[in-house]
Amino acid sequence: CGIVGYLGEDPAGPIVYKGLQNLEYRGYDSAGVALVGEELTVQKRSGEVGALSVPEIPSAVCGIGHTRWSTHGPPTDENAHPHTGMTGEVAVVHNGIIENYESLRESLSDRTFTSQTDTEVIPHLLEIELEDGHDLYTALNRVVSQLEGSFAICAVHAGRNEIVATRNQSPLVLGHAKDGVFLGSDVTAFLEHTRDVTYLEDGDIAVLRPGDVHVYRDGTEIAYPIETVEWEADAAEKGGYEHFMRKEIHEQPASLRQTLSGRIDLDRGAVELDLEFPKGYLSSVEEIQFVACGTSYYASLYAARLFEEIADIRATVSIASEYTFDGGRDPWRTLTIAVTQSGETADTLGAIRRAKRAGAQTLAVTNMLGSSVSREVKNSVFIRAGPEIGVAATKTFASQVTTLALLAVYLGRERGVLSPSDARSILEDLRGLPGGVQQVLDNEASVKEAAVAYQDSDAFFFVGRRHGYPVALEGALKLKEISYDHAEGFAAGELKHGPLALVTDNTPVLAVLTDGGNIPNTVNNLVEAQTRGAPAIGAISESHEIDSLDVGFEVPDAGLFEPLIANVYFQLFAYHVANEKGRPIDKPRNLAKSVTVG
Ligand code: G6P
Repeated sequence: CGIVGYLGEDPAGPIVYKGLQNLEYRGYDSAGVALVGEELTVQKRSGEVGALSVPEIPSAVCGIGHTRWSTHGPPTDENAHPHTGMTGEVAVVHNGIIENYESLRESLSDRTFTSQTDTEVIPHLLEIELEDGHDLYTALNRVVSQLEGSFAICAVHAGRNEIVATRNQSPLVLGHAKDGVFLGSDVTAFLEHTRDVTYLEDGDIAVLRPGDVHVYRDGTEIAYPIETVEWEADAAEKGGYEHFMRKEIHEQPASLRQTLSGRIDLDRGAVELDLEFPKGYLSSVEEIQFVACGTSYYASLYAARLFEEIADIRATVSIASEYTFDGGRDPWRTLTIAVTQSGETADTLGAIRRAKRAGAQTLAVTNMLGSSVSREVKNSVFIRAGPEIGVAATKTFASQVTTLALLAVYLGRERGVLSPSDARSILEDLRGLPGGVQQVLDNEASVKEAAVAYQDSDAFFFVGRRHGYPVALEGALKLKEISYDHAEGFAAGELKHGPLALVTDNTPVLAVLTDGGNIPNTVNNLVEAQTRGAPAIGAISESHEIDSLDVGFEVPDAGLFEPLIANVYFQLFAYHVANEKGRPIDKPRNLAKSVTVG
């Protein structure tokens, strides 16, 4: 879900509405705003932000808004935020889950509730505090002490230009502009207005009033730090593309350059990363554990192989929601790495906390400065992909694998198992990635042609080996997410052990036939499917020629990273299949970009 708030000199309605549009990728099943005047004006409804008509109240310079991805209660008008109590004096937007809402609701049995949400207890509790004569800040302070769970909350009340806000395990950031102050669940809410931000900490309460902002921690006002976000102000705009997803696919040469920038020392065959582990720790690590979800999980699978090959270390990958730190291994010599674009995925945060509790060292690889995961761990490496708005992750997958490859080289050198010259050749391949990806992008027309030709297939299967295997899984995920077609990824060698039963002449098989993927064996598997009539589509290393393919896409030389380049073909294929079908590509049904519930 997404939160935005504004208090300044301009009418709040259009600003909050635009903020909601910016945040729509965080959830899009209902949306609403509350504008402050003598009375509160609340407008909310189920559906996308575009379905909301924000009332024009030029004098209202203070407002909050919310875009929702349902957890408690279906996406109805009543369940949309903001929520009000009984008097209509208070309006609240909330991200996260109030775990004890049922008992709180029971204690409020004399009051009338209009929604099925956990959130609605908050405005009721605030109203009671205000009726007792407390101001909004004190009221929120007292209410928060009764809440259990994770939350980011913004509240306003009638007749006063003031927003109070707090967070616990759910992100909230302040934006400081010349003519107003913003609140957002992330900076994209207000990036076009300011890049000067304050990331609130758990328990902080921010009070926004005309012309000033106060932040309180444990009841005492603190001097809050202001940081400048490096993202370009227009980075979260579509910039002429019809969809964010296509824009982000095309941004990959630039985002990869950004990921690599200043981190490679080719002369020394070394990687420069700002990590602070106890001296000698990295050379004594015995196991790397990756924890992640979705696309980040597939990036981790790719990386685990790289770590074993490059840094000669045992590396395991767990789906974050399945992760347990079992006994037996030495926790101190285990490094658990959370890979998460948003840094807010509840499952991944839960896993990294479990690792910490067990005594493991931890590291985060994330795209979001100031995100929850980077607060949870001492060491973070930022993938620097820039804002990704399309729900289907594209450029962040490429930047995750690239960052993790840098980390593998770093570790290999620290552990003394990777020579400078071997490191140099891996780093050279990494440096070639932006150019290699560009060659794929230049070939988009032929991918579109294949997508048009095969769009009506019954299902799509993706296969690959070694580093090509996670790319097969990711290729299938992209296609199913945005086209709603049945797509599955398999280890190429497994096709014959079961999935081959699904193969017909109307189920194309898309294969990763690149270096880093064991080409001859995968070709054999592909031929097995082709013999059963399946169209064979391959992304092939330019150094190879395979005549029997129905469609072949050329992948430029990049050693272990060729599958990463092949993945760009799969991204484009998924995009064009979905586009031909007129799917809402940036906002696929039922999904949200950042899932902050476990
Ligand atoms: C959601 C998104 C996926 C994403 C996953 C993990 O399910 O829809 O695209 O891969 O979360 O997100 P993270 O931010 O942790 O990488």
